[in-house]
Amino acid sequence: MIYADYNGSAPLCEDVKEYLVNRFQTGPFANPNAIHHQGQQVLMAMENSRSVVAKALGAKMNQVIFNSGATEGCSTIFHSILDDALENGRSTIIMSGIEHSAIRNTANWYTENKGYELKTLPTTRDGIVEVEFLNKWIKEAPEKIAMVTVMAANNETGVIQPLKQISEICSANKIPFFCDTTQYIGKVPFSFKDSGIDYAITSGHKFGALTGTGILLAKDRTTLKPIIIGGGQEKGLRGGTQNYIGNETVAVALTTISKNFGKIEELARKRIKFETKIKNNYPSVYIIGEKAPRLATTTYIAYRGIHGQAVQIELESQGIFVTTSSACSDNEPVTSKVLKAMGLTDDIGRGVVRISVGLCSSLEVYEQIYEALSKAYDKLEQIKSY
Ligand SMILES: Cc1ncc(COP(=O)(O)O)c(C=O)c1O
Repeated sequence: MIYADYNGSAPLCEDVKEYLVNRFQTGPFANPNAIHHQGQQVLMAMENSRSVVAKALGAKMNQVIFNSGATEGCSTIFHSILDDALENGRSTIIMSGIEHSAIRNTANWYTENKGYELKTLPTTRDGIVEVEFLNKWIKEAPEKIAMVTVMAANNETGVIQPLKQISEICSANKIPFFCDTTQYIGKVPFSFKDSGIDYAITSGHKFGALTGTGILLAKDRTTLKPIIIGGGQEKGLRGGTQNYIGNETVAVALTTISKNFGKIEELARKRIKFETKIKNNYPSVYIIGEKAPRLATTTYIAYRGIHGQAVQIELESQGIFVTTSSACSDNEPVTSKVLKAMGLTDDIGRGVVRISVGLCSSLEVYEQIYEALSKAYDKLEQIKSY
């Protein structure tokens, strides 16, 4: 069996499993905000995890806020920045057209309900955000821009965005830059400090920690406003007793992953070999974002004329689990918003499957996927559906 949907959710990291077995046996279990000995022990373990996370991500400890995941982090950041921006004349949100629905829908909510204007940055056909538009729009009216939001790596294509360039432009114009790093952290070495990003988010389940865990990184935590007030936990930034064991798993998973970064180049070479071979043998194949810098762990591949879902089912019958990432309406697969934003047409959009593996995957994984995918294409080529 090959599980190739890491971008959807990564399996629990082996070290996390081992850690949890031991942790559940030995305890302690207590409220980290209690002042008795057990509570203080739990607090110390959680703060130690915060320090490990901060070190792994090039951040300061007080810049790390534990929460339930990327969606929550996104809501906190929008709320913090946009609560009073409009009153101060900052009415425009600049967002890329390839954002995850967690970000896109939040931005849309602020335009529909709070009167913000949304400007969407175009991308190249390879899925890279066109930074010149950002420059142009900021130059036209810098005082009107409330925030810029561009993701680090796209969940469908794996294409990596020019973060440094964007953060420099935002910083020069004193505009908050929120970057969704959910698909980036754990797949590429990342330093929050060096990135120049103001706010970043991720979910633990994307890199082998427990689901329901997450991190929000804030350059200046005093700019944050909580969406959950409650008892003032996380130093007033996120009410509710912390998911302390979950937060510990975030630290364990990030520590393990940092040891695997040495595998990235070799995995990327194997991935390119796999893609080149499949393209050479099947001329109808299109690799999305092929020429762009991409995560070594993601291939988004279309076969013109064969529905992605048919390919997915064929692969599943061979024990390989991938996704299509295209929404389905009335049983008609439709091209995803991300692919539309990249200007790709339905003949490609309907035919995609996303193959996403992890840094812990064996280096032979792409060879095995090649065999299964070529069998699927050979079979489905006979019965092309569009
Ligand atoms: C890029 C990106 N951002 C945000 C999210 C939302 O993550 P969660 O559902 O864990 O909050 C995801 C999840 O797929 C994602 O891939």
